[in-house]
Amino acid sequence: MIIRTLGAGAGGGLPQWNCGCPQCRAARAGEIAAMTQSSLALSADGRAWVLLNASPDLRQQLAATPALHPRGLRDSPVAAVVLTNADVDHIAGLLSLREKTPFRLFATASTLTVLAENAVFAVLDPALVTPVAITLGQPFCPLPGLEITAYAVPGKVALYLEGPEVETRAMGEQTIGLRIVQGGRVLHYLPGCADLPDWLCDRLTEADLLLFDGTVWADDDMQRSGTGAKTGARMGHLAMSGPEGSLARLAGLTARRVYTHINNTNPVLLPGAPERAALFAAGWELAADGMEIVL
Ligand code: MLT
Ligand code: MN
Ligand code: ZN
Repeated sequence: MIIRTLGAGAGGGLPQWNCGCPQCRAARAGEIAAMTQSSLALSADGRAWVLLNASPDLRQQLAATPALHPRGLRDSPVAAVVLTNADVDHIAGLLSLREKTPFRLFATASTLTVLAENAVFAVLDPALVTPVAITLGQPFCPLPGLEITAYAVPGKVALYLEGPEVETRAMGEQTIGLRIVQGGRVLHYLPGCADLPDWLCDRLTEADLLLFDGTVWADDDMQRSGTGAKTGARMGHLAMSGPEGSLARLAGLTARRVYTHINNTNPVLLPGAPERAALFAAGWELAADGMEIVL
């Protein structure tokens, strides 16, 4: 399995257009690498590819990735897109795939309904773009030899669908994790996850590679940095640190562990940050745009 991080950033990317936090300033100054928004490309053979989420930066991500360039006059190696939720940073890139090339679009029925209810997505010609509803727990193959099984993980509806009351750790079709198998090797992909209950930690023990939600270091990253009032929990993202955080909860895994969907406010992005050293000392890696892993 060939895994390529197209975008390792969370919504907004790094730098984010309206942010002057230390990480965004360092990225603008060229001191640390910029990150586009959350998306991954997968292939079994290096020829046909599936995108996991379609970020608003997809056009730029495709341009930067020769393996995803057309090989003929009008075609694309991108055969399918799989969505893990309906967040803007995971669906807006679909609008860049509207130029009359066929692909299959896999998402839960509830995420497909969100797209169907937003008229702008009608730019995806139904004669060419085939929606396929994912049933949780039921394997599907977006590419020959690459089997994916989706499962519910704690999460919330997309920001633009929030009502007055928001269940931030809801279980259902709104936020899914993906178990991806090829040639007996197992990847779990969870770019958004609000909690790690025992059953989920147990499920992840089988992974050879884990790509996990790296949005915030601490629940109050945004408050402490003065960039906003929202906690990680309120945004539907589990912190890395703390007794219930992903570093502690997943300490027993043997898998290669990589954080992705990293928010620009996360202090681990700064060289020399103690949080960054703690993450590496715990055996984790940070994804970066263009990172390739062969599993
Ligand atoms: C998130 O991951 O929390 C969302 O992408 C936030 C957003 O919609 O900007
Ligand atoms: Mn996001
Ligand atoms: Zn910032």
